[in-house]
Amino acid sequence: MPVITEIEDLHRLYRRRVPKMFYDYCQSGSWTEQTYRENETDFDLIRLRQRVAVDMENRSTASTMIGRDVAMPVALAPVGLTGMQHADGEILAAQAAEAAGVPFTLSTMSICSIEDVAEHTSKPFWFQLYVMRDEKFVDATLERARAAGCDALVLTLDLQILGQRHKDLKNGLSAPPKLTPASIANMMTKVRWGLNMAQTKRRFFGNIVGHADGVGDASSLSSWTAEQFDPRLDWDKVKRIADKWGGKLILKGILDAEDARMALQVGADAIVVSNHGGRQLDGALSSIRMLPEIVDEVGSRTEIHMDGGIRSGQDVLKALALGARGTYIGRAFIYGLGAMGRKGVETALEVIRKELDTTMALCGEKNVHDLGPNNLLVPKGFR
Ligand code: FNR
Repeated sequence: MPVITEIEDLHRLYRRRVPKMFYDYCQSGSWTEQTYRENETDFDLIRLRQRVAVDMENRSTASTMIGRDVAMPVALAPVGLTGMQHADGEILAAQAAEAAGVPFTLSTMSICSIEDVAEHTSKPFWFQLYVMRDEKFVDATLERARAAGCDALVLTLDLQILGQRHKDLKNGLSAPPKLTPASIANMMTKVRWGLNMAQTKRRFFGNIVGHADGVGDASSLSSWTAEQFDPRLDWDKVKRIADKWGGKLILKGILDAEDARMALQVGADAIVVSNHGGRQLDGALSSIRMLPEIVDEVGSRTEIHMDGGIRSGQDVLKALALGARGTYIGRAFIYGLGAMGRKGVETALEVIRKELDTTMALCGEKNVHDLGPNNLLVPKGFR
C-alpha cells in the first residue's frame, strides 16, 4: 500500500482501481472543460501571507455550518453514482464523514437509497434534491428525506438541463454499465472493483427507481435526465419546494449576485457558490473567482458556502479567507472512496484537515473564524 500524504495519491490509486467509465464520469467537466480546469488552477493564483512569531498553540478548525457543529468547515458534496465507485459507496462515505465530524450530503442520483444510508449511520445527513417534472416524485422524496431524519435540504439549481460531457457519451455511461466488448474488457482489468461490486445487494439508483416514470436500471443517464428533470424550474417553484420542506435549506449552484439575492428572498439558510464542479456551464468563471462578489452582495445576510476545485486544506483556507463559511469536496472524497473505500474517504478528510490546520498556523492564525483577506495576496483583477 503506497504512503498517502496528499489527495493526488488517492487520485492515482483511484484511477488504477475503478473502471474507465466511472473514472471518466467523475473526472470530466462539460465541453472544453475550461471551467473544470480553472476551478482548480484559479486557487493557485491566490497566495498566502506568511506570519511569524505568533502563538500557534491551541488551534481550532472547528466551526458551524447552518448551525451544525463541524470539526472543520468541509462537507462532502452530493455526488451521483457514488455507489458505482465502490459498493455501498454512499453508506461508506456517510460513515467516514460522521467519524470525521463533517456533514455528508446524499445525492438524488445515489445508488444507495435515503433509507439505506439512514439505517447505517447515526447522525443526520443532508439530502440533495434535483427537481423533477413529476411533482409527486418531489413530494414523496421530500417526505422520505424527512422521515429518514435529514436535517437540511440541499436544492441544486444548476442542472435543469444537463451540460454535455463528451466522455460519458462516448463511454455510454449507465449504471449498471452496459456490457459491450470494450466495457467488459476494461472491467476485467479492475479485479478489485469487480469483486467488491459483486457483493453489493443494492438496487441501482435507490432514490429514483420506482418513483419516477421511465427509470430503467440501465437507462442512459443523459436521455433520462432530459426526460425527467424539470426545465421549467423557476424561483416560484423553488419557493414552493422550500415551503413544503419547511426545514433548513441550502441552495446550491449560485454563481451570480442577482441569483444570490433571489436565493435570500426564498429563505435560504445558506447558498453554495458552485458551478457543479465545472460540469454544467463550461466557460463560467471558477467558483473561487466568483466567491468575493457574492460575499459582498449577500455575505452579511446569509451563510455562503462554496465548492469546486478544492483538493487541499490550503484551498479550503483560501475560500474561508475570502468569506465562505463552509466548503464542500466532491472529487477529492470520491478519489479516496474508489481507492480505499471508507478508509480512503477518512484519509482524504484527514489529509485536508491537517493541511488546513498547519497552513492556518503558518499564516499566523489559530482559529478558522479569524481567517480573512489579510491572510491572502490576491492578484489585481482576480475579482
Ligand atoms: C457532482 N455534483 C453533483 N451535484 C449535485 O448537486 N448532485 C449530484 O448528483 C452531483 N453529482 C456529481 C457527480 C460527480 C461525479 C461530480 C464530480 C460532481 C457536483 C458536486 O456536488 C460538487 O458541486 C462538485 O463536485 C464540486 O467540485 P469538485 O470538488 O469535485 O471539484
